[in-house]
Amino acid sequence: MIDFTLRINRENYDVTAMTDTPLLFVLRNNLNLKGSKLGCGLEQCGACAVLVNGESTFSCAIAASSLVGKSIITIEGVSESGTLSAIQKAFLTEIAAQCGYCTPGMIIATTALFDKNPSPKKQDILEALQKHLCRCGSHARILTAINNMQSDHSQND
Ligand code: FES
Repeated sequence: MIDFTLRINRENYDVTAMTDTPLLFVLRNNLNLKGSKLGCGLEQCGACAVLVNGESTFSCAIAASSLVGKSIITIEGVSESGTLSAIQKAFLTEIAAQCGYCTPGMIIATTALFDKNPSPKKQDILEALQKHLCRCGSHARILTAINNMQSDHSQND
């Protein structure tokens, strides 16, 4: 076990874990941040995605101890001051989920995309979400939610 400090959702957290403990386990088991989900544990489904220095990153296979000094944002940190982000609102309005297990990862991937490219093309969106599985088949609603958000944004410009 080693001690280290992680910067998560704009706060510092002191952590004691094995050097190879995945970030996902530290988030869920040590810090009680349960929004990031364990699906496959093999970087194959996207349920565990978080932002690491703005990049959508699967937290199931990356050692938490390797992320000292980096900015980690989980689904709990996507909203600020209790206000949902535009992406979260769009998913909610469209009811872009059935069971919701994949939703945190989908929102993280979409957030990373829009932070880099506020007006992504359909192909950009498809590529950003390509590694994210939804067993319920909500992809159509997810894409509609993102499209609606873009339409709302362009109408407000
Ligand atoms: Fe990490 Fe599936 S749980 S990609």
